[in-house]
Amino acid sequence: MKILGIETSCDETAAAICVDGEIVSSKISSQEIHNKFGGVIPELASREHEKMLNYIVHQALNDSKTSLEELDGIAVTQGPGLSGALIVGTSFSKGLAMGLNIPIIGINHLEAHIFANFLAEPQLTFPFTCLLVSGGHTQLWIVNDFGKYNLLGETRDDAAGEAFDKGARILGLGYPGGPEIEKLAEKGNHKAIKFPRALIEKNNFEFSFSGLKTSLLYYIEKNEKENISDIAASYQYAIIEVLVNKLKSAAEFSNSTNCVVAGGVAANKFLRKYSKNQISNRNIIFPHPSFCTDNAAMIAFLGEKYFINGNNSNLDFSILPNMRLN
Ligand code: KG4
Ligand code: ZN
Repeated sequence: MKILGIETSCDETAAAICVDGEIVSSKISSQEIHNKFGGVIPELASREHEKMLNYIVHQALNDSKTSLEELDGIAVTQGPGLSGALIVGTSFSKGLAMGLNIPIIGINHLEAHIFANFLAEPQLTFPFTCLLVSGGHTQLWIVNDFGKYNLLGETRDDAAGEAFDKGARILGLGYPGGPEIEKLAEKGNHKAIKFPRALIEKNNFEFSFSGLKTSLLYYIEKNEKENISDIAASYQYAIIEVLVNKLKSAAEFSNSTNCVVAGGVAANKFLRKYSKNQISNRNIIFPHPSFCTDNAAMIAFLGEKYFINGNNSNLDFSILPNMRLN
């Protein structure tokens, strides 16, 4: 099957083509307009998607020498995400599907992040434990089968990506904060400052990162920013240590051989290294970094799975800005 995937849930305009489980092209335009605001401005995001989407879709088609007439279906992010941004992607996709007279499927962005791990490890088998860490979500899942997901726990307040973004803003760095903190942290000592680790006790699968951000704020007020690399490295370590600790205890709890990490924060090199180090008795899988942050390859790939299973959406499906996985 030849599937076009479209992703516009936040600040990435993306299109990809998946052919029989393989990504043959993946194009992403990251909206830089938000950098100066330190976070995504929803109305600007919708306008940028509107401007870029047609161009990005044609880039993905041209890059893989695919014509519109060859497409067997369109997969598009239905939620969760920003309403206006989702409407741009779904309206475009519905128009195209209607014009080409091909099926369309609305995709859960969170499920697609998890399934990006099959692109990295096609032999991955169920069940597995998944740490899903993005800008809006921090969750631990037991993935029993396609469509069978058990939530072990999630964050009570900020998501891990949000902790990176808010920390970066406090440190006067750019947006998105994760890559900025990661870059600075490479030159710093991660044990220099002991930031708090919330809810760290064993078999507690909930997270809390809002206190960490506040303690960074207090630290900066008291100590200035003279050792900014040490601050970034210690702050990053505080987030990553909690994530890895909880992934480890979730894997023990569910007795999973395979653990996967998904979402934008999974691109973090320290998280990749530290988790493999700390959970050496299990198979730890990460998507390729370009398939961790928002992309349409994961949407096209999961869409094809649904189409193969005989599923598709009616053309009148609605966006679901607060869509959950179960
Ligand atoms: O999955 P994603 O692209 O979008 C959402 O679905 O939310 O995740 C974006 C989040 C942002 O908070 C960003 O700061 C974080 O992922 N992120 C990172 C890195 N790259 C992106 N966090 C830590 N280290 C990175 N290298
Ligand atoms: Zn995402």
